[in-house]
Formats: sequence, C-alpha cells, structure tokens
Amino acid sequence: MTVSPPPRRRTLLLAPLAAASACGAPSSPSSHPAGARPQARTQHGIATAQPARVLLTAYDLASPGATAAAVRATLSAWWSRPAPDITLTVAAGPGLYRKLAVPAPDRLKALPAFPGDRLDPRRGGGDVLVQLCGDDAAACARAATRLTARAAGVLTQRWRQEGFLPPRAAGQTPLNLFGFKDGTENPGADELHRWVWNGDGTTYLVYRRIHMAVDTFTALPVAQQERVIGRHRASGAPLGGEREHDPVDLYAKTPQGRYLIPAQSHVRLAHSRLDGGARMLRRGYSYDDGADDRGLLFLSYMRDPALFVRVQQRLAAADAMNRFLEHRASAVGHVLAAPAPGSAFGDQLR
Ligand code: HEM
Repeated sequence: MTVSPPPRRRTLLLAPLAAASACGAPSSPSSHPAGARPQARTQHGIATAQPARVLLTAYDLASPGATAAAVRATLSAWWSRPAPDITLTVAAGPGLYRKLAVPAPDRLKALPAFPGDRLDPRRGGGDVLVQLCGDDAAACARAATRLTARAAGVLTQRWRQEGFLPPRAAGQTPLNLFGFKDGTENPGADELHRWVWNGDGTTYLVYRRIHMAVDTFTALPVAQQERVIGRHRASGAPLGGEREHDPVDLYAKTPQGRYLIPAQSHVRLAHSRLDGGARMLRRGYSYDDGADDRGLLFLSYMRDPALFVRVQQRLAAADAMNRFLEHRASAVGHVLAAPAPGSAFGDQLR
C-alpha cells in the first residue's frame, strides 16, 4: 500500500472520507456520499494506508517562557508546508496543556504505571508528539529536521525513534518481528468514526516502545508460539479457524474441554468483547536499534486512552507473551483536529 500523497497544501479529510482512505479509496471530496453531513476534519497518518517507514519525534517546550501563541504559530507553520509523500500527525501531550495553562481535554491523562514496565523517560513522554510516515526513511528524516528547525526557540527535541514494516503485498497485514500478522483485528474503515474519531475530529494516541525477545520466542516450537498469541503464524487465523479474518471464537473448546484460544493468550486477553466491544486502531511499526534492542513501536489511536489502560492492565497481569516483552517507553497525546477553513492548525490550544 502507498501513502496518499498530499497535494501542495495538505489534503484535509472529512472523517468518513478519512476512513475510506484507509482501504485505498480515493480521498477526494467527490467520494463524499451524497447527502452525508460533513464532519470535523481529521489528520492524516491514522486512517491513511500505512507506508513502510515511521519517524517519531517528541518535543518539549523550549523554556518555561514559551507561550501558547508561539506554539500555535509553530504548529501552523508545520501544517502550511507539508513534505511531499509524507503524512504528518501531531498530538499534544498532557504536559503541554499544563505548562501553557490551557484547559486539557478530560480524557488526556498521564498513563498509570503497569506491572513489568521498565520505562526510560528519555525515550518517552513529550509535550508534542509527531508521527511522520512515508516510504522513504531519508525523506522522513529530512522532514523531521525541517520541523525541528521551524520550532527553534519554542520546542526542543526530546527523543526520536525510527520504525519500519517489512515489505508486503498491497492489502496484506504486516508481520511483526515474531513473524505473526499484526493488525488483523483492527476496526475497518467504516468503523473508525465509532472507535477512533471523536466528533470534533480529534483522537488520542498511545505509544509504547516494547522490547521483544525475538530469538527466545522464535526458538519455541511454532505450535507453542501460536498458543501464546492465540492465532496461527502462517495464516493469521484464530486458533480453531482457517482464514485470517475468521471470527475469533472465545468460547470454542477442544474435545477435552480446553479453550482453543488459551486463557492466557494475547488475543483472548486483548479481545474487545472484554471491553464491551470498544476497540482501538493499532498502527504499529517494528524497530531495530541493534541486536539486543528490537521490538514493536506500538502506536494506537482511540477515542479514549482509558481503553488502552484497561487492555494493558489485563495484558500486564496475565499475557503469556509477557515473558518475551518489556515495555521500555511510553507516551500519550491528544491528536488535534485538522483546521477548518479560515482557522489555523493548533487553534484549539487556547
Ligand atoms: C510487542 C508487543 C505486542 C505484540 C508482538 C502484539 C501482537 C499481536 C498479534 C500478533 C495480534 C493478533 C493479530 C491482530 O489482531 O492484530 C494482536 C492482537 C491484538 N493486540 Fe497485540 N501485540 C502487542 C502488544 C499489544 C498491546 C500493548 C496492546 C494494548 C494494550 C495490544 C492490543 C491488541 C489488541 C486489541 C488486539 C486484537 C485482539 C482481538 O480482538 O482479537 N497488543 N497483537
């Protein structure tokens, strides 16, 4: 899949259209269903197709003296000159609202500590989080350098993280470093308005940098790996199913009366049924920062980060995958709405 190239000015998507673009549908206003009411505008890089590279950069306010007006001017400058073929997605961390004394959205709270966390604050947090996605890592790096230069005196870089997806055929679910399809059970394009977008075009980003013990996990017999995940490695089908998108049947049992999808498997514990059906959009990338520092950049978008907290509490308590994982950094942010005509990006920060 390729990222939809922004024209000279960044294309603004109406929420239903943003959803459509996730499955490759054209995102021009002409695809707007007749009579549908335009909704708030949403940023790219969430519903849009997932290109091969991500570059995440987090910034902190340059000094306690940086004002809300200066931050708004920076965000607006970022927005007005998009890099070709790269999506820019900007989120405001809880610290930004606090430091600027701007009222924060109710749902934006620092994440709680989870059992097993080994978080490095130098690789997580941040007042402003930026996700750049594109097919070319060097182009993403150039775009990030330009953003940082334009923010001089207002925002300083706190951390930066690169990620990638292995090559895959169009429409295929990407593989993670354990060799499993990752992203199968995501809300579809037509469901994003329900689980991802708030009515005002905002959403929330939860980021976790998760170390994966790739060699230890992949040395296990495949059947054992599959019981940890709850899906088959080759097809991606849920245990007991045949095809990737077969429904996950949490009640199916073996003739011996054991769950086909084991009680401590990742898929069972993360399943939306345990959250009253509530879902998040996972848009992860792998990272490889050296032989012993590889894993998943878990990037997820949802209407309320409280959903992530509930799921992660279950996973941290019992997930069979835990012995192969370590959460090493974390960040949360409020993904601002794209600007309406006549207003500037970041106008909400007042
Ligand atoms: C390195 C860490 C992780 C790995 C390797 C991983 C891998 C996977 C895989 C292979 C699947 C099955 C395919 C799919 O539906 O995408 C899956 C499903 C899922 N994962 Fe993870 N995951 C990780 C961390 C997390 C975390 C931290 C969360 C949230 C707190 C999470 C939430 C979910 C959810 C909601 C599903 C779909 C469950 C369903 O409804 O079937 N995962 N993950």
